[in-house]
Amino acid sequence: MSSGCKIGPSILNSDLSKLAAECERMLQCGADYLHLDVMDGHFVPNLTFGHPVVECLRSHLGSDPFFDMHMMVAKPEQWVKPMSAAGANQYTFHLEATDNPGALIKDIRESGMKVGLAIKPNTTVEYLAPWAGQIDMALVMTVEPGFGGQKFMEDMMPKVQWLRSQFPSLDIEVDGGVGPDNIHRCAEAGANMIVSGSAIMKSDDPRSVISLLRDACCEAIQKRSLDR
Ligand code: DX5
Ligand code: ZN
Repeated sequence: MSSGCKIGPSILNSDLSKLAAECERMLQCGADYLHLDVMDGHFVPNLTFGHPVVECLRSHLGSDPFFDMHMMVAKPEQWVKPMSAAGANQYTFHLEATDNPGALIKDIRESGMKVGLAIKPNTTVEYLAPWAGQIDMALVMTVEPGFGGQKFMEDMMPKVQWLRSQFPSLDIEVDGGVGPDNIHRCAEAGANMIVSGSAIMKSDDPRSVISLLRDACCEAIQKRSLDR
């Protein structure tokens, strides 16, 4: 994937009985990547799916779509190899879930995936900063992880702003309650990977929502490069 603004629908709130078709629909509507939410019932009080489902999606959708695995799991070390074998492209784990982020980052890279590092709303960016030079993407959660359809937390934007000021070329993702109402805040703060679940999935016109999100994000990136 090239750097710049990318929109990744979260399929958590889609009709999971037809997951592959929902993913295809999102890609046809212009999604740049798919954000796949893995929950284990321990790290978060909810349960979704694991690598066997990812493997089926990969074989159904072919090699092109970029799978960003949002691993809301208590033992992120455990799923690196299975996810890589299943066809995941990026492994985004939570800093709160591991005692040894350095080893995990190395392991993910050796498995051939990109590295994403996520922080929950109560975790400050100072904890993430020491790892920022070793990762491909920082995910700033804008809701408490666990469920789709929650309210966007605007007070997470200073984290995004700070990360962008310190790491101009890092991919920065926001996830949780993001949609047309608040995309400008996210984009101006410096996010360039935009996860949006309900706002896209529940829309009658997902293509327009995706393109609106992308336009807002690209505009902000362009403005920043002119200001520099
Ligand atoms: C929440 C998940 C999100 C969520 C996004 O824990 O990580 O990816 O599904 O959905 P919305 O946009 O509805 O908050
Ligand atoms: Zn997510």
